Amino acid sequence: MFDLSNKVAVITGGCSGIGRGTIDVFREAGAKVACLDIQDEKGAALEAQFGDNLIYLHADVTSEQEMGAAFSKVVDRFGRIDVLFNNAGGTEGMGTDPYDIEALDRTQKLLVTSVILGMKFTVPVMTEQGGGAIVNTASIAGLQAGYGGLAYSLAKGSVVHLSRVAAAQLAQHKIRVNAICPGLIPTSIFGRALGDTIAEADQRAAMIADRAHEAQPIPRAGKPEDIGHAVAYFASDEASFVTGQFLAVDGGITVGPRSSWDPEAASVLWRTTGMDEEQIKEMMASR
Ligand SMILES: NC(=O)c1ccc[n+]([C@@H]2O[C@H](COP(=O)([O-])OP(=O)(O)OC[C@H]3O[C@@H](n4cnc5c(N)ncnc54)[C@H](O)[C@@H]3O)[C@@H](O)[C@H]2O)c1
Repeated sequence: MFDLSNKVAVITGGCSGIGRGTIDVFREAGAKVACLDIQDEKGAALEAQFGDNLIYLHADVTSEQEMGAAFSKVVDRFGRIDVLFNNAGGTEGMGTDPYDIEALDRTQKLLVTSVILGMKFTVPVMTEQGGGAIVNTASIAGLQAGYGGLAYSLAKGSVVHLSRVAAAQLAQHKIRVNAICPGLIPTSIFGRALGDTIAEADQRAAMIADRAHEAQPIPRAGKPEDIGHAVAYFASDEASFVTGQFLAVDGGITVGPRSSWDPEAASVLWRTTGMDEEQIKEMMASR
């Protein structure tokens, strides 16, 4: 467990999924947290749970005006910002036409412009106080094809590179910038992409969690806290020499093709050699 006491963290998208899990990790590590989101009921519940150590602020991360107002309130309340976790997001609906330019622009605004807005209102505060840490949620969809639609994947690839470029620019102010690339984490994002209401999407997340142990080499479902712990590392003083990097927290899903870890997928390949099932099994066991 990293020590984040005396740190003030802004977490966007903290009302649900990865952001919510990260709030738990940060609170346990002693940080004061400002949660920026648009789910006011869940925000009020967070304030009731964490008392003076957490503030919820309604802010649409695509609105410059709402983001500016929210960051001012964070500084009024806590006096500083040590950590910014740019995490709020969602994806274009399943089956969106990849050439739908409006969807492309909307996704870019939600996933990339929002990160720049977060930085716009945080960097002056961090510069003035002598440093800080920014962590941006990218995705394995930003590293490899096949984990999201075109608009989403492009945007997440941009977040990885944006983190590098910003790290280069901001190191002089002792501000570090890193990206986190979650694998499959059962959250509401999937149901939302399928057109569920928020309540339905929350339920679907629980159903996905029951099945997600088969999705990657590590045979259990990923948890929002798995991401939260990695974010806590990047935010901590132990990472003071780490900037411009990305970390995939994905249960190994990006280590190689499915055939590299799943015997069933491997046997599809080995059958092409003419071996029968028994021979393939023997060969796999000997590896
Ligand atoms: N769940 C996964 O498998 C996965 C994998 C890779 C990356 N991610 C990324 O993780 C981040 C968090 O997603 P999640 O999976 O926890 O989903 P989620 O739906 O559970 O949480 C997203 C949160 O962002 C908030 N949000 C959405 N639009 C907003 C806006 N315009 N302004 C303010 N808040 C807004 C939502 O209200 C919600 O609380 C996203 O950036 C997502 O792309 C998720």
